[in-house]
Amino acid sequence: MRIDIITIFPKMFDPIVNESILKRAQEKGLVEIRVHDLRDYTEEKHRKVDDRPFGGGPGMVLTPQPIVDAVKKIKGRRKCKVLLTCPGGKTFKQSQAKHLSNEKNLVIICGHYEGIDERVKDLVVDECVSIGDYVLTGGEIPAMVMVDAVVRLIPGVLGKEESLEAESFEQGLLEYPQYTRPANFRGKTIPDVLLSGNHEAIKKWRHQQAVAKTKKIRPDIIQ
Ligand code: ADE
Repeated sequence: MRIDIITIFPKMFDPIVNESILKRAQEKGLVEIRVHDLRDYTEEKHRKVDDRPFGGGPGMVLTPQPIVDAVKKIKGRRKCKVLLTCPGGKTFKQSQAKHLSNEKNLVIICGHYEGIDERVKDLVVDECVSIGDYVLTGGEIPAMVMVDAVVRLIPGVLGKEESLEAESFEQGLLEYPQYTRPANFRGKTIPDVLLSGNHEAIKKWRHQQAVAKTKKIRPDIIQ
């Protein structure tokens, strides 16, 4: 998969895309992440990429020219899914991460300031995506969140594929509680069933725990 990110803060991505699992995924050739500075695409001589909103109001709005030209140039003749991060978009979910992990080419435009010229959406954007019901200062962190959630689902990125199966949001459930050594930590012990060696009983217990936890914390996601 190739992921292109368009941002006015390209340096923000360095520590995220060049560390840990995202770094390894790129080294393995499973994903190629390219970060583009929006200012490199502006025709404005002072590298300006924003302007005051028509009709008045506070803040600045990203102008359409640099974004539209950046997307066109980056795409070239490739077929790409183009996403725009904005708090007004549809909420990003694990199911969308899964769909996106099957795409060959993704372009993510990071929204900023008070917004982005609406015409950009009609001209080059397939979907606006929000990462949750809160407003951040920009779309960079949402873009990182999406890249991380998508890339880890690409086959081969995580060491053990099976670790994806039991995790939160799979089968509409939160993940069951996990324990490791020691079995007695400062007087706090672990459920006996986990020491029983009875795999059927452990499976059943984990499922019950996941259901109970989901009902309590996230009744909205239970299927
Ligand atoms: N930009 C600002 N807030 C955002 C959010 N919650 N999701 C996506 N982009 C944003």
